[in-house]
Parts: sequence; C-alpha cells; structure tokens
Amino acid sequence: MLAELPPELIVHVQHATTLLRTAQRVCILTGAGVSAESGIPTFRDKQTGLWSQYRAEDLASPDAFTQNPQLVWSWYQWRRQLVQDKKPNPAHYALAQWQEYITLSQSAQQLTLITQNVDDLHEQAGSTVTHLHGHLGRNRCSQCDTPYIVPTLSAADQVNFSIDLLNCDQCGGYIRPDIVWFGESLPVNAWQTAEDAAANCDIFISIGTSSLVYPAAGLAHLAQKNGATLIEVNPNPTPNTIVNITLAAAAGVVMPALLQGIIDSCPTPKD
Ligand code: APR
Repeated sequence: MLAELPPELIVHVQHATTLLRTAQRVCILTGAGVSAESGIPTFRDKQTGLWSQYRAEDLASPDAFTQNPQLVWSWYQWRRQLVQDKKPNPAHYALAQWQEYITLSQSAQQLTLITQNVDDLHEQAGSTVTHLHGHLGRNRCSQCDTPYIVPTLSAADQVNFSIDLLNCDQCGGYIRPDIVWFGESLPVNAWQTAEDAAANCDIFISIGTSSLVYPAAGLAHLAQKNGATLIEVNPNPTPNTIVNITLAAAAGVVMPALLQGIIDSCPTPKD
C-alpha cells in the first residue's frame, strides 16, 4: 500500500506513522469525505436530481421543517434511500482494524473516533464511534422527542411525498429525523466525549472534513491548544491552517497505508 503512493505522499505518511506508533492518545474526527469513496455525496457536493434546486443547508434546519415538514421529511427519505445500499470503504475498515489492533495487542494507545457523519458506515466496518450530528437511520417526535421506528425504505420504494409525513403515537407531533440541524445543540454526551478526547490527545487526525462547521471544527484548535500534533487527510485544501502534517489524498488510499505503517512496526497482537 505505502509503496503504491506518490513519493511526495509517502514521506508525509511515514512521518505521520512514526508519530502515531508512540502516541498514547489519538483523537480522530471524520467528515463526509470518509464516506465519499463509498458513493455517498459529501455534504457540500452539489445535490442531484429532484433536490438539485435545493442547498442541504436550507433543508437541514428547524425552520425549514416548520415551514414545510413534508419537503424536509421527503428529502431525508431520499437521503436514506441513497445510503441504503452503500458499504464501508477501505478508510472505514482501516479505522476499525486500528481499533481492533489496539484491543487485540493490548496496546496502551487510546483511540477515540468521532464522526460528523450521519451514515452508519463506521459501525458497519466494526468501529466504535461517537456521532456528533445524529443518525440518518433514527427518528424522533419533533414535539415530545419520543423515538420513532420507521420501516426501512428499500431501494425499490419510491418516495411518495403525499404519504411520508408521520405522526407521533404519543402526542401527534410530526416525526423528524434524529439529526442535529443547523442552529440546534449537539448531543451533550457526544460533545463531552469529543471535547475530552480532543483536549487530552497527543495526535488529532481530521479525515474528510472541510473544517467549516463549528463546534466540530473547533476540536482541532482545542487539541492544538493542548499541545497535540494535527494531521489532516483530505485531497483538497481546507481552511484548517494549524495542521502540522497534510496527507493530501483520498482517505481510502491514505488510511490503509497509515495503518500498515503502525501495525508493521509493532509486535503482532497476542493470540
Ligand atoms: N477522502 C478524504 N476527504 C475527501 C474525500 C476523500 N475521498 N472526498 C472528499 N473529501 C473532502 C472534501 O475535500 C471536503 O473537504 O471531504 C470534505 C467534505 O466536506 P463537507 O462536504 O463540508 O462535509 P463535512 O466537513 O463533513 O461537513 C461537516 O457540516 O453541514 C454540516 O452537519 C453537516 O456533518 C456536516 C458538517
């Protein structure tokens, strides 16, 4: 894997690997880019088809849902169908294998994985992960917050705008996705986990995020303020100017090479 990378990237991956081998505490924040190679458009990719006339930011808000719950709910039904058949890619598997390696080798390293994504590809790959922005597959009442189980849409289901809006069994309120919308607070426990991990890590790795949306984008600054080394995995430049090591390539290419470097240098896991 490493040898297949462009020479200028190999040097940076080796530098990152050298630091990661001895890091006691690693905090990783992923964004939509980690799922891009699984075929899920990133959050700021232009929307397609029926939704091309809308910006995601204009639909993912409490006001949009209040003004037109049918439109917002149908958008999420469309997004659910979009991810229905998507599978983890090598970046997801590398992160899950890293966590597994730490467990099997009884390494003292602590790895905390935080995601801004609402898909479940980290979980499908076997990772333990904390979601800052909620879960696309979960729903709750927009009035009383009671969780609501919606039958999973098959890829064949057509989103029928006239019947999709659902009502809460408890209070009759409209059902909404269990996702953090713009202007809403992040789940308290998830944010606490993320803050603690960022504030106490030796190395902070951001993977596939534009680092545009706070408070998640502030985690890198919190890590740096506490002396962490910052690594960024992104084929495109981001406004994150405090990064120490930039791995400017796709996560599905970089992460397996990074993991190979970490594991090859360490003793094999105890059976
Ligand atoms: N590997 C790594 N990074 C990639 C890849 C890839 N294969 N493909 C694209 N990227 C990068 C893009 O260059 C971009 O910087 O992923 C990033 C995706 O950025 P966004 O679409 O802004 O997604 P994200 O950073 O996750 O957005 C953060 O903003 O709108 C809110 O709640 C929403 O969780 C989302 C948050």
